[in-house]
Amino acid sequence: MSKTADVVIIGAGAAGLMCAATASYQGKSVLLLDHSDKPAKKVLMSGGGRCNFTNLNTTPANFLSTNPHFCISALKRYTPQHFLELVERHGIDYVEKAPGQLFCTNSSKDIQQLLLTEAEWSGVNLHMKTSINSVTTTADSVKITSSMGNISAGALVVATGGLSIPTLGATGWGYDLARQFGLEVLSTRAGLVPFTLHPELKTQLAPLSGLSCEVSVSCHGQTFTEPLLITHRGLSGPALLQISSYWQAGDELSINWLPYCNLLKELQQLRQQHPRAHLSSWLGEQLPKRLVTVLISLLKEKGIHLPERNADASNQQLDAIANALQNWTFKPAGTEGYRTAEVTLGGINTQQISSQTLAVNGLEQIRFIGEVLDVTGQLGGYNFQWAWASAVACANNL
Ligand code: FDA
Repeated sequence: MSKTADVVIIGAGAAGLMCAATASYQGKSVLLLDHSDKPAKKVLMSGGGRCNFTNLNTTPANFLSTNPHFCISALKRYTPQHFLELVERHGIDYVEKAPGQLFCTNSSKDIQQLLLTEAEWSGVNLHMKTSINSVTTTADSVKITSSMGNISAGALVVATGGLSIPTLGATGWGYDLARQFGLEVLSTRAGLVPFTLHPELKTQLAPLSGLSCEVSVSCHGQTFTEPLLITHRGLSGPALLQISSYWQAGDELSINWLPYCNLLKELQQLRQQHPRAHLSSWLGEQLPKRLVTVLISLLKEKGIHLPERNADASNQQLDAIANALQNWTFKPAGTEGYRTAEVTLGGINTQQISSQTLAVNGLEQIRFIGEVLDVTGQLGGYNFQWAWASAVACANNL
């Protein structure tokens, strides 16, 4: 069987579906192909089942990329407000969970359905369970061989995403195709991912599995103040997921367990005002008691002992306690990797891509959108906003 289309899009995820519907509404014949059995699987999994579909405060500063200016153009042309209008047109209930972070009130299925409905209304020709064998270009077209036969198209849009969660259909196919056309693929690593711990610390924290508290965590000059979650595998929660995107193997992390106080000042006051009390009682009012017990034994390992009574503490001792609790440094063993990561850092170098059209410079027929590019959002709905914005920028310039 041989087919023709104005545009072939590979990858029926967030970016691919958005691009397909937008191009199709503009009168283009669009063939959308995906090797998986269901479209938009990551949308379904996202936001703990409630899809954090955008962030009202999106700015280019919320993205990691070796070419930080690249995302500006697309983000400016398709804003969170544009996607919100689409959500409202579909009558989907949403809630602002944290400032700017919009989630579905009911289920991520609402966003998956929105994308599929738009694709259907606009006339997108969607084929799942389709594998791509080869791609070649002529002066003004693209030839694709696939499990559904040979296809000839005016343009090919690659929306195959990153490497995270292979069980949801992730592959490195988009990177391989980029290399085939001489593009540089920057090294990739898992982002927005939980940390694993060395056996000793893992054993010490294991009894606290499920415990969550607000901390500040820092690495490479970045700090996030959000909840930390202790799991049976290591450390997770929004603060740790956020910092994982800035962390590289072998780096130390610094945790401030009491991010909202000047601890040294507090300790000095306690010594003066409650000389007979024990510091652990006060700590137990600030943090979960079980955590305080573990932190005290971790301090002991560093040679820092709590005084019997606050009055017994020397200035040097208070200094050491404050510093250890507000700048608790450790080296994670690693991360859980692509198996559980929400995103992939790195990818196709955007220096070779037009920020206006998302086409390869000098090869207009080939375009890359979404997470396959070296543009990665922080936690909070930014990654979907990049998927929508890059998809629309591409579709409007096909
Ligand atoms: P996406 O991964 O969505 O789609 C790629 C598509 O290409 C898939 O359908 C895949 O099957 C297909 N494909 C891959 N290789 C192929 C091949 N060789 N042949 C054919 N098809 C192929 N972001 C956010 O903003 N808010 C959130 O709440 C969350 N939550 C979240 C939770 C979890 C568990 C994950 C894993 C991720 C998130 N994210 C998120 C991130 C977000 O899901 C992600 O950034 C976008 O889905 C990226 O959209 P893309 O369309 O680029 O890739």
